[in-house]
Amino acid sequence: MLYKKVVRPILFRFDPESVHHFVMKWLRVALGLSFVRAIVKRWCCVHTSSLEQTMWGLEFDNPVGLAAGFDKNAEHFNELASLGFGYVEIGTVTGEGQVGNERPRMFRLPEDRGLLNRMGFNNHGSSVVAARLAKKRIEPLLGVNIGKTKVVPLDEAPADYEKSFRRLFDFARYFVVNVSSPNTPGLRELQNKEPLTELLAHLQRINAEMAAQKSVARRPILLKIAPDITDGQLDDILEVIDACDIDGIIATNTTIERDDLHTPGQDELGPGGVSGRPVRQRSVELIRRIYTLTEGRLPIIGVGGIFTAEDALETIRAGASLVQVWTGFIYEGPSAIRRINRGLERACKENGWANIREAVGVDAHPKAIPEVAQ
Ligand SMILES: Cc1cc2nc3c(=O)[nH]c(=O)nc-3n(C[C@H](O)[C@H](O)[C@H](O)COP(=O)(O)O)c2cc1C
Repeated sequence: MLYKKVVRPILFRFDPESVHHFVMKWLRVALGLSFVRAIVKRWCCVHTSSLEQTMWGLEFDNPVGLAAGFDKNAEHFNELASLGFGYVEIGTVTGEGQVGNERPRMFRLPEDRGLLNRMGFNNHGSSVVAARLAKKRIEPLLGVNIGKTKVVPLDEAPADYEKSFRRLFDFARYFVVNVSSPNTPGLRELQNKEPLTELLAHLQRINAEMAAQKSVARRPILLKIAPDITDGQLDDILEVIDACDIDGIIATNTTIERDDLHTPGQDELGPGGVSGRPVRQRSVELIRRIYTLTEGRLPIIGVGGIFTAEDALETIRAGASLVQVWTGFIYEGPSAIRRINRGLERACKENGWANIREAVGVDAHPKAIPEVAQ
């Protein structure tokens, strides 16, 4: 209440990217004090066996994660985790550091409860991020999202992803291969069958090699997809995922679709990907379709327009085992994660589910593949 009535109206008066950095800085200062962190954790973290899950041999305290792009450079993940997230995904990190697109490059769409961004993978690069991680005690279950350096041509993409994969292997509990940002020219072409097979097969070879070298388990690799793919592209992607033994899929990234936006002046903001409410329906439809096509065998992380426990539950019922939040966190505030987890816990009780995994895919029908509007 305090956040929506007082804090958010003040923060929303300033440039969104500057606000993000400002808030992260103060979050770090405040939660750097161990007694403050302990109080916040106690208030925000929901501990209940009904939300705990083991996926890919990893133990998740709850299914609500922080989506990629929030802590691109692995600077704040410990503090963010204390707000109740079950896991945190850092990145997107690229082979080389890069400044990203010119500012301003992030905009609010308040009437749509969304954001538009064309950040362009601004990040410190995988060697700096690896060095930073080596110095930290990593508290949350940490996923690492990797992408392509802008200046690297598409046919050299596998070597660029490999650099980051090797450097970040020791810190990543799972990897995400991001081929779905609309803000790196040509990146989404890597979702096509041939380049995608080449990229994922290459990373799996490195994965097996590194796991053998270090005598550890290979890292789960997930693929993050765009909401704007056609049914045919999705069929191809699922074929490649199967052929390359990919462990799961993250649906979805931001959308380039603008048709249903209502915020005045949004058409003058220039290119970028839209997140939040406007991507919600498409994200849920795609998750339901993936779950149905794979008969629930491929683990899905659902992301897109999750603001409340009801949204999270809808995404889970469509087929996602885990969910992630980005834009909802901005609009709903820091207590949103606790509210979502409490709501999911309540839903388990009301429906007689011993564990939230019993809700996964209950709204998907393996026999009837839903048509997805293109
Ligand atoms: C400002 C901003 C930056 C983002 N950066 C990344 C990124 O670097 N890598 C990535 O995979 N997704 C990135 N995303 C996409 C989110 O992780 C998420 O997939 C998308 O926003 C949909 O979720 P939401 O509706 O909860 O925001 C970014 C989103 C926003 C709003």
